[in-house]
Amino acid sequence: MEDIKALLDKKDWTAPELAALLACRGEEEQLLFARSRAVRDATLGNGVYLRGLIELSNRCVKDCLYCGIRRSNVHAVRYALDGEEILGAAVFAHRYGYGSVVLQGGERQDEAFVAFIERMVREIKRIGDGALGITLSLGEQAEETYRRWREAGAHRYLLRIETSNESLYRQIHPRDARHDFRTRLECLHALRRCGYQVGTGVMIGLPGQSLEDLARDLFFLRGMDIDMVGMGPYLEHHETPLWERRGELLPQTERLRLGLHMVACLRLLMPDINIAATTALQAIDPEGRERALAIGANVLMPNITPLTNRANYQLYENKPGMDEGAAASTARLVESVRRSGCEVRLSAWGDSLHFAQRQGQP
Ligand code: 5AD
Repeated sequence: MEDIKALLDKKDWTAPELAALLACRGEEEQLLFARSRAVRDATLGNGVYLRGLIELSNRCVKDCLYCGIRRSNVHAVRYALDGEEILGAAVFAHRYGYGSVVLQGGERQDEAFVAFIERMVREIKRIGDGALGITLSLGEQAEETYRRWREAGAHRYLLRIETSNESLYRQIHPRDARHDFRTRLECLHALRRCGYQVGTGVMIGLPGQSLEDLARDLFFLRGMDIDMVGMGPYLEHHETPLWERRGELLPQTERLRLGLHMVACLRLLMPDINIAATTALQAIDPEGRERALAIGANVLMPNITPLTNRANYQLYENKPGMDEGAAASTARLVESVRRSGCEVRLSAWGDSLHFAQRQGQP
């Protein structure tokens, strides 16, 4: 107990010290959570920002060994929303006070796709005269593509590193040029050059991942001077190759706990960034996202994909929110955020304070 108190008062942790914080329990855990929450409240207040998540397509050129929409999964029913469906969802987001939308989808680099996204971004910008913030989460692209989408009006981009341990990265991806750790890193740098607020993140509780790996992931996020983070527990999917290693996994409740500890520790390391309370937390515990908000997260990404296609975007199994009308879920969400001691800030972009501060730097 004294150890954890002393650790919490330290500024610069070693990886083993940070791993000890990630593993703490009981009263020590309560101390960690109280501290991370206090840091969030003092730096950012208790406001929570919404990003309406539009899963625009599950067609993907990648074959990641953990992901349910990987190219080789012949059981995944493939879909792509048309422009009208995407714009309809964005209009919905605007109407219900979601300050931003996230366009997320499987990875494609063909010109038809790139041009389609560019047009969607431009059209979403016209809704309410530029009222909506736009985040993209569309994987690895050429720098030129990132630039086109930035010029069209997208200003945030999410691209998870998945794990900062290069050898673990190789174990969870096919070993070919298309799934290269260095390319992923290079994309994060390219996004920054293009002027995006850059978000990344990791999966927590992967087979073969140690507490020190996770500690180093947090140092990686700080070292990259990242503006936003979305990270959540790894969830096994039976139609993927990584399913074979399910025997090595921590129980889901432990992965959830680690997910919360990762959020708390990251808040201590990077007080002014945006941290999302992710859907994968909710997949394990219906209150998982609220629990993350209560201890330091400040962004929620409610799914506003038209219901007809939602069941097909299954990165992992038992994904929550598969049978709920988007309108009905909004009011419930505002209420459940309140129960976590936070307040939804409707119709606000909620840009990363960290980004604003690094812009101010010479
Ligand atoms: N469990 C948890 N998260 C997953 N993702 C993909 N597959 C899984 C899974 N099985 C996450 C990855 C990816 C994001 C879009 O979804 O981190 O970057």
